[in-house]
Amino acid sequence: MAKRENWGSKLGFIMAAAGSAVGLGNIWKFPYTAGENGGGAFVLIYLFFVVVIGFSVMLAEFAVGRRKQLAAVGAFKSEDRRWTFAGALGVLSALLIMGFYPVVGGWSLAYVSKVFTGLLNAPEAIASTFDSFITNPLVPLMWMVAYLILNIVIVVRGISTGIEKAGKVLMPLLFGILIAISIKGLTLPGAMAGMEFLFKPDFSVVDPSVILAALGQAFFSLSLGMGIMITYGSYLPKQENLVSNAAIVTVMDTAVALLAGIAMFPAMFAFGIAPAQGPGLVFVVVPTIFAEMGGVGTIFAALFFIALSVAALTSSVSLLEVVVAYFIDEKGFSRPKAVVVSSSIMVVLCVLASLSLGGVGPKVFGTGAFDIFDLLTDKIFLAFGGFFVSIFAGWKLSKSDLQNEVTNNGSIKFGLFGIWYALVKYIIPLTILWVAFGGIRDGFESGAGPIMIIGLLIIAITAVFSKKL
Ligand code: PHE
Repeated sequence: MAKRENWGSKLGFIMAAAGSAVGLGNIWKFPYTAGENGGGAFVLIYLFFVVVIGFSVMLAEFAVGRRKQLAAVGAFKSEDRRWTFAGALGVLSALLIMGFYPVVGGWSLAYVSKVFTGLLNAPEAIASTFDSFITNPLVPLMWMVAYLILNIVIVVRGISTGIEKAGKVLMPLLFGILIAISIKGLTLPGAMAGMEFLFKPDFSVVDPSVILAALGQAFFSLSLGMGIMITYGSYLPKQENLVSNAAIVTVMDTAVALLAGIAMFPAMFAFGIAPAQGPGLVFVVVPTIFAEMGGVGTIFAALFFIALSVAALTSSVSLLEVVVAYFIDEKGFSRPKAVVVSSSIMVVLCVLASLSLGGVGPKVFGTGAFDIFDLLTDKIFLAFGGFFVSIFAGWKLSKSDLQNEVTNNGSIKFGLFGIWYALVKYIIPLTILWVAFGGIRDGFESGAGPIMIIGLLIIAITAVFSKKL
């Protein structure tokens, strides 16, 4: 293999890792998941998981990747073939997330055009417009395909300079628009009830499924548990400080999620929109806020959905790249062939996911494809991916190797190493098991349990068969 490329600059790495982390997970998924899980208590548990588990797992992934300078599958496999499955599970997760992410990415693209074609003229119809849009069998599919094509173009070209440049401009813009929306929302009458909902914990609503949702959200939002950060870490130069890089990415990602919450909830309460909107939340609340502002509102709304689409793209290209890199590195495919094969599988999954929202297509235990992919990944696979990375770093690597990697052979001070190591070795794996099993047991009440059990079986099957990969 040729000498491994490194990131051009520290900023380049941070932008790519943050670009992967900040996406629909922060702006689309976080607000509606918080809304469905009762608000404040969920947010608090999520923050706790981000700090204690998310940051630690990210650091472990960076260390595992940089140590061997190999992407996810290779980083595990080169240590011990029996560990190949942990990388393989990541590839599977990426594939399944790409089975629904482009559906939502397509919605975001569609909304750029919708705001110019009169969406904001009838604020009272915005919610029903969303419902009839996503349940339409054909139109969302066309936007989903457009979104996937953008991904394909970027990933075929290999190095994604274009998207990185776009991200450098549009990420700050997105941040700015979120701040503007927040200010607007907070000044509406009745807005404070939204802040209370979001930040005042009511622990009586907490059950094991809320805790699992918070854990899943932390993993999903930080792009953890599937080898992306292992892969990115593998390109990091040996003198880079892994600890501060992990901290910066974690803080940036979490700040965007919280800001998205502050942008949505005050306005929702002011407008009397129910918090448990489900996946339509951003697509209803943001246009409703901007509809009030007349002409400039249209421009702002369009900018918001353009920036959201770009944030989504910088995440989904990292997902597509995981699958593509697997076919190139492990199966010897050329890049174009790897992209064609990966995206063909994704198109099929996405069509199933998109149609399932209109009630069309196969169901498993009463659950449609969109929800299956979402449930399997953010409630099971990512959490277990995080579990395996922790076990790998804590038990398979020696403590001194790990310490050398994280502290650049002692040249960087990391006073919390002992605590971090204990977290990675004992506390995180046990917590993940505890949360996952509680959530699965609870899931049987909501009908999600059987799918989660299927998820565990898939992990077991991957473990058995992946030695051949
Ligand atoms: N973190 C991304 C987001 O928040 C989604 C993602 C998940 C990307 C897992 C890569 C891996 O939108």
